[in-house]
Amino acid sequence: MNGWPGSTGSIADGILHAARKAYGGFGSFTTLRLIVHADNSLIKFYMPLLSILRFPDPRLKKIAEPVTAVDDNIRRLVRDMAETMYEAPGIGLAATQVDVHKQVIVIDISETHDQLLALINPEILDSDGSQVGEEGCLSVPGIYDKVERAACVRVRYLDLDGQEQTLDADDLLAVCIQHEIDHLQGRVFVDHLSQLKQVRIKNRLAKQARITA
Ligand code: NI
Repeated sequence: MNGWPGSTGSIADGILHAARKAYGGFGSFTTLRLIVHADNSLIKFYMPLLSILRFPDPRLKKIAEPVTAVDDNIRRLVRDMAETMYEAPGIGLAATQVDVHKQVIVIDISETHDQLLALINPEILDSDGSQVGEEGCLSVPGIYDKVERAACVRVRYLDLDGQEQTLDADDLLAVCIQHEIDHLQGRVFVDHLSQLKQVRIKNRLAKQARITA
């Protein structure tokens, strides 16, 4: 009947309703999504996508506060952060990057984008070994460089039900957890690089910003 499964008025209304409801959440929403139906009609709606701060924005240096209660506001923040991360696309996002200074991170390193991990008040209890991997960051678009991290970490956090959990991670997941916890502490991966590289990166991003302005 039509090219887009479920592309009926009621579904579109549902999405609009969901998008409007999301406006009650944290942060600001910027992305206008357009969908063209098979009959050439057009629906427009706002995705609940959050704006991602770009290095060297001073707000990336803010230290996030612990979450005192895992409530619906926090669960909505996690959902919006996850959508923002998947859309970017990225494999991790810290609340700091969307200008919400609470200890919340989302990670999904799966290729299928169905292994979402939300860590609230994450704390590294133990770490071991070292690994050097190429890192990038949604707040530092187009820049990749090698950073040394612990090879494995044990992290304690609260899940979306407010229950305490402990996770042992290695390889990419361990890198991701350390990278995102850094954000909550006001650090970006380029802070691990030499001063000279940091200056080069700032100049390159400033140039990019002028081109896209
Ligand atoms: Ni990052």
